[in-house]
Amino acid sequence: MTSRPNLSSASRPALPAWAQVSPDRVLHIQRVAELVDRWAEEMRVSDSERARWLRAVWLHDALRDAPQADLDRLAPGPDEPAELKHGPASAALAKGEGETDRGVLDAVHYHSVGLVEWDLVGRMLFCADFLEPGRSFERAERTALAGRLPSDPRGVLLEVARRRMLHAIKSGWSVPEPSYRFWNSLVSASSSSSR
Ligand SMILES: [Fe+2]
Ligand SMILES: [Fe+2]
Repeated sequence: MTSRPNLSSASRPALPAWAQVSPDRVLHIQRVAELVDRWAEEMRVSDSERARWLRAVWLHDALRDAPQADLDRLAPGPDEPAELKHGPASAALAKGEGETDRGVLDAVHYHSVGLVEWDLVGRMLFCADFLEPGRSFERAERTALAGRLPSDPRGVLLEVARRRMLHAIKSGWSVPEPSYRFWNSLVSASSSSSR
């Protein structure tokens, strides 16, 4: 395995100036960035693709600790909690500040729920957000999944989506429509590829 002690400057986007995040949140985002950067290295993706993945990482939780009123203003619509609004709000602000990459914007907007139409940016962010090593649950299994991702991205994505869906159901939460559409698309792609 290639080790990259430091992110190259070209692949080191930072938090946007408008971010509202606690110190602990910054550490989470850094861990997600390091994981995504490691996967990009092991998967030998181009520098421009790696930069897309990292832009989405640094944007995804940039408003996670913003006041609800700010989130409601940036992401008007259904009355939803900050857990579901911070992605859409951050994507809206990033777009207003000049981000034009649809894959990056969709990754950020839907990172809490999933999206059928995602390209690799959204899929990598969805996995890394769940598998980053700072989370305290299922450490050994998540470490193994993170290690497996570069050689089996589709299999690991399916497993991450399964675990996130099960967690929502066990917690008695409603499952947002994009989440179950995403889950159904992953299952149908996996069953058709194994036929
Ligand atoms: Fe988030
Ligand atoms: Fe996150």
